[in-house]
Amino acid sequence: MKNLTISAERLWNDLMESAALGGTPKGGICRLTLTDLDRQVRDWFRTQCEALGLAVTIDDMGNMFARRAGQRDVPPIVMGSHLDTQPTGGKFDGCLGVLAALEATRTLVEAGYETHAPIEVVNWTNEEGSRFAPGMLASGVFAGAFAPDWANARPDRDGITFGAALDAIGYRGPQKCGDHPLSAYFELHIEQGPILEAEGEEIGVVTGIQGVRWFEITLTGQDSHSGTTPMPLRRNALIGAAKLVERVDAIALAHAPRAMGTVGMVEVKPNSRNVIPGEVFLTVDFRHPEENVLAVMEDQLRSAITAVCEPLRLESAITKVLNQAPVRFDDACIAAVRAAAEGAGLTHREMIAGASHDAAYAARVAPTAMIFIPSRDGISHNEAEFSSKEQCAAGAQVLLQAVLAYDRRLAEGAR
Ligand code: GLV
Ligand code: MN
Ligand code: MN
Repeated sequence: MKNLTISAERLWNDLMESAALGGTPKGGICRLTLTDLDRQVRDWFRTQCEALGLAVTIDDMGNMFARRAGQRDVPPIVMGSHLDTQPTGGKFDGCLGVLAALEATRTLVEAGYETHAPIEVVNWTNEEGSRFAPGMLASGVFAGAFAPDWANARPDRDGITFGAALDAIGYRGPQKCGDHPLSAYFELHIEQGPILEAEGEEIGVVTGIQGVRWFEITLTGQDSHSGTTPMPLRRNALIGAAKLVERVDAIALAHAPRAMGTVGMVEVKPNSRNVIPGEVFLTVDFRHPEENVLAVMEDQLRSAITAVCEPLRLESAITKVLNQAPVRFDDACIAAVRAAAEGAGLTHREMIAGASHDAAYAARVAPTAMIFIPSRDGISHNEAEFSSKEQCAAGAQVLLQAVLAYDRRLAEGAR
């Protein structure tokens, strides 16, 4: 029997080595998508893949695929995640999924184990959506959810477009995004929440992802002097924004316990201590496992904007920048994950992902499932995010075994 046990040490070393690219003093990573640090981690990843004999191809949205041939020239079984991070991101969100996929492939290479289907490791571009909204932009184009021209024109807050930033780091590849059939897709990720840890389970068998809607709102009043403009005459956009932040919280609480509502970004103009703010930009992130509840939350947000702005004599503009429906994963892929956890002797439970993932779009074009490992204290999108070496290794082992289980299924189907 070949040794198909992944190396916890090698995986941990890869996590720590790549975490130095954009590493923060508090132990996290700031590696925003399509920055020079993103280029550096992509170069590093490519070098690792090529050292293993994998063939790396890049599509015209910057998605990177590293391929190990199979016995048959059928579409690959793909595993991966993303290497971009939040501005105060941790070391594991996304990176674990890519580097565990690399370690799983390395294990196959070292054992000389031949799979039926080719195996690929993917690094999707701009999962986080922190710099260019929406998140999962390149997997979304891959799945046909977004038009390539629209995606390339997405601006960051300095007006630099996704397309210009991709060209600037030299990672626009020749392959047309989406022109790359998959037999199946598996993504390992940290849970980013408290459930597995609280329940003492080692593996989350992820059956789907809750829905997400993102909005960008601009409230416009009038800049004017803070010392001379009488209070009743002011059109203070920040007062409107403050009221709206509370309304967003209240909308989510009204649909407790499963609804989430967050204002995560606020930009005040002109942001000067003695000028009444004339314009505020803010973002809203709504999540819920049911599409109809998200629709009600959206209606309530639109009504709240009107109710807040009218008495303050503010103008408003709202754009919906993401509308991702809840996702249900493929039964055969879920079964492969469950069997892999059992085969590895790990305790497990089914769960729905609270965060979103590239798997949401992969699921539109291929049978897909995800694997979770616990996150310490449930903390993520935070530099303190942590999962242990053993937990990461357990996830990587389940990833490998799930892929092999699915590969055997494909081989049997081909007979
Ligand atoms: C991805 O990080 C998300 O916003 O869920
Ligand atoms: Mn992620
Ligand atoms: Mn994230």
